Amino acid sequence: MELLNKLSENGRLSEAEFAELLRSYDETLATEAAAIARIKRKGTYGDRVFLRGLLEFSNYCKNDCYYCGLRKSYRGLSRYRMTKEEIISRTDYGYELGFRTFVLQSGEDAFFSDELLCGMIAEIKDRHPDCAVTLSIGERERESYERLFAAGADRYLLRHESCVKEHYALLHPEEMSFEHRMGCLRMLREIGYQVGCGFMVGSPFQTTGHLAKELCFLAEFKPDMCGIGPFIPKEGTPFEEKKAGSVEMTCFLLSLIRIMLPDVLLPATTALGTLDPEGREKGIMAGANVLMPNLSPVSLRPLYALYDSKICMGEESAECVECLKRRIEKTGCHIEVSRGDHKHFTHRGGVEPFAGGG
Ligand code: SAM
Ligand code: SF4
Ligand code: FES
Repeated sequence: MELLNKLSENGRLSEAEFAELLRSYDETLATEAAAIARIKRKGTYGDRVFLRGLLEFSNYCKNDCYYCGLRKSYRGLSRYRMTKEEIISRTDYGYELGFRTFVLQSGEDAFFSDELLCGMIAEIKDRHPDCAVTLSIGERERESYERLFAAGADRYLLRHESCVKEHYALLHPEEMSFEHRMGCLRMLREIGYQVGCGFMVGSPFQTTGHLAKELCFLAEFKPDMCGIGPFIPKEGTPFEEKKAGSVEMTCFLLSLIRIMLPDVLLPATTALGTLDPEGREKGIMAGANVLMPNLSPVSLRPLYALYDSKICMGEESAECVECLKRRIEKTGCHIEVSRGDHKHFTHRGGVEPFAGGG
């Protein structure tokens, strides 16, 4: 408890202290951490939970991450790309459902040039000026990130996957560079995006020491958003035999991150809901405040199988929104229809303060 209180007061611990805190994990400590995390969240975002409509618009990927079902060497997968028109029409549908943020996610697919993406982003913003567009399309070059930002993209999710170079190298083939990925995160921030980093909990070869380093990295980088979810093995990938991460450790980490970064936008991920039918509720009770229901057409969802047994495969997005509303009510929170920006976000580099996002 002592270390939890210290974290709550100072907003950070030393690496050794984080490691000690993680090693002393038990149910009582996790319950205490979650209670402090909820107080911190209430102080910043109240009881509001923000929805992001996730559009998985292409499952083509040039990379070969060992953990992911979209990796290029995964042969047993039909590949698809949504057209610009399909993507726009799903955002229109999402708007009707109450989404005010659209997350455009894909594998690293060169078919989606800057020009194509910029046209799409501009049209979404034109049709729905009160919405935010988040990109989650992997590593690109600075010029590309700049163009996409100029076209209207507001936020960028790029999980760093591991802040420890040696561990990163065990999760990715040699041609993928730890330095480039970390460099991308810094670039995105410099350009003016609200930036999200993150990692899988219980990814193969991850140690408690690594997790302590992750918490130190987050304390320093101070992301606007942080995506953490349990690793789940996918049949047919090099990690198919590896153990899944734990719901309990993911929730404990969510609490520690909320305590350390009270303003951070923190999703209770689909992976959490996949490992435990009440995983997302547990995530919210641990301090998360974002949910990312799937806005992709139901027919395409089985083809975006990052891991096995992914939930919400057959339910239309409208059903998921209703389902989530019911689930969230039980946690004492409520879903809010707004962009849900980071608390200290000022619109586009501080020029025009955004009034509605809180
Ligand atoms: N291609 C982009 C990228 O890698 O940043 C965005 C899409 S990628 C599928 C989104 C995230 O899915 C990755 O950052 C990774 O953390 C997560 N992911 C991939 N395979 C996973 C698995 N087997 N279990 C849990 N999460 C996984
Ligand atoms: Fe591609 Fe992203 Fe999957 Fe890696 S995690 S294989 S970059 S989709
Ligand atoms: Fe998709 Fe419950 S959130 S069915």
